[in-house]
Amino acid sequence: MQELKTLSKEELEGLDVPRISPSYLAEQSKGKVYIESYGCQMNFADSEVVTSILMTNGYSTTDNIKDADTILLNTCAIRENAETKIRHRLRGFHALKSKNPLLNIGILGCMAERLKTKLIEEEKIVDLVAGPDAYRDLPNLLEQLSTEDKAINVFLSREETYGDIEPVRLHSNGVTAFVSIMRGCDNMCTFCVVPYTRGRERSRDLASILSECQTLFEQGYREVSLLGQNVDSYKFEDPTNGQIISFANLLEKVALIHPDLRVRFSTSHPKDITDEVLHTMAKYENICKNIHLPAQSGSNRILDLMNRTYTREWYIDRINAIRSILGESCGISHDMIAGFCTETEEDQSETLSLMDYVQYDFGYMFSYSERPGTPAAKKYVDDISEEVKKRRLAEIIEKQRFHSGIRNHMLIGTIQKVLVEGDSKKSDLHHYGKCDSGKVVVFQKQKEQKGEYVFVKITQCTTGTLLGEITNI
Ligand code: SAH
Ligand code: SF4
Ligand code: F3S
Repeated sequence: MQELKTLSKEELEGLDVPRISPSYLAEQSKGKVYIESYGCQMNFADSEVVTSILMTNGYSTTDNIKDADTILLNTCAIRENAETKIRHRLRGFHALKSKNPLLNIGILGCMAERLKTKLIEEEKIVDLVAGPDAYRDLPNLLEQLSTEDKAINVFLSREETYGDIEPVRLHSNGVTAFVSIMRGCDNMCTFCVVPYTRGRERSRDLASILSECQTLFEQGYREVSLLGQNVDSYKFEDPTNGQIISFANLLEKVALIHPDLRVRFSTSHPKDITDEVLHTMAKYENICKNIHLPAQSGSNRILDLMNRTYTREWYIDRINAIRSILGESCGISHDMIAGFCTETEEDQSETLSLMDYVQYDFGYMFSYSERPGTPAAKKYVDDISEEVKKRRLAEIIEKQRFHSGIRNHMLIGTIQKVLVEGDSKKSDLHHYGKCDSGKVVVFQKQKEQKGEYVFVKITQCTTGTLLGEITNI
């Protein structure tokens, strides 16, 4: 493990890039905005960019929906039930709108991009629709609502990364923060709506990422999660020297900001995760040994129909590389889809046997939901009954619970370095935080504060949490 060094003052100054800061002191607020976020971490990170843009333009935010002049829902379109949830929520707003006809209701994010004007036509109470690349236009769109009854911008961009915008951290614990490093996705997994809602893949400029992470560290944050749909394909040409920065290079530069700043990242694509990334993780203690590597299925036939562009054997080779370069304790999690088109019981057993091979620490598991306009919706029949999907999903979840239990149990008796994130949800006498491999650890408070590292001896576990006691080493 190499010795860590912090960046020098000159190096830090070199990171200076023009940044737009929100004017918290906007003399007269143009109105109060309430934002609710759904979907993936990237969407939550986008809400922080949206808040920054609005505050810079004289709006203020509120956590109380009843005080709001504008309600914005930042939405997800990944599965049908994600959209159903939003439609229910919108119907619930009818009462608010009838009490206050001047209230603006806006839809942002992936569902806005997917449905475009349909949302205004179908959900009669929606006034504003803005897609993921249109957030800089939000102040104009809101302005437009003072003279017109609707405002829409759903243009997708090939360049927008919001790199110059300093996000306003929402509902933050002051210790961990998300940092978007890229947008969009160029993979064409046949089941997935993301390439249509988020557009082409583009990487954010290096200097703005490093400067955001540096600022977070100076503000007391101790963990950054670098976000992208496929972080391994991060690629940026450094304008100062023409050098191409890969994801491994970026990880190293973020890790060098300070040894006390932990670095996590998500999501890795099995076809792109390189040994170089794994060796970089091994080299720096502060890059957490925790990899989210969605498999989606364990069957080659289904992986091919999904256009995931890797095989079960390739996936297993990547798992073996993780285990040999980073060791058995590296946390590995997955996404799995049950009941994709034409999936047989044999395909399902391949998925279960892949899970047995890997013994994942954690997983996000879904039953297949056909999304209109995707290649799968156009080419294949969604022919697995809801009942079968449900049963297969239950089998996958059951297996995961079993493996999570085993993996957590293995840590009993070990000492874990934990970053304290705050009070445990269940007790004021306990703190919680995460260990290196990403598991939540709960322990009785001593003198430690939020944002500090402690060593915890693990004494017990559930399938979701580790329990332990602070120990001096
Ligand atoms: N970029 C990430 C995934 C982003 S979407 C990757 O490639 O792994 C998050 C997860 O939602 C996916 O990994 C997949 O498991 C699930 N998902 C996406 N589309 C889905 C659909 N149509 N039905 C069910 N699950 C889906
Ligand atoms: Fe969707 Fe595939 Fe892109 Fe992930 S890699 S966002 S699953 S298209
Ligand atoms: Fe959902 Fe869009 Fe994220 S569809 S999962 S919010 S990229």
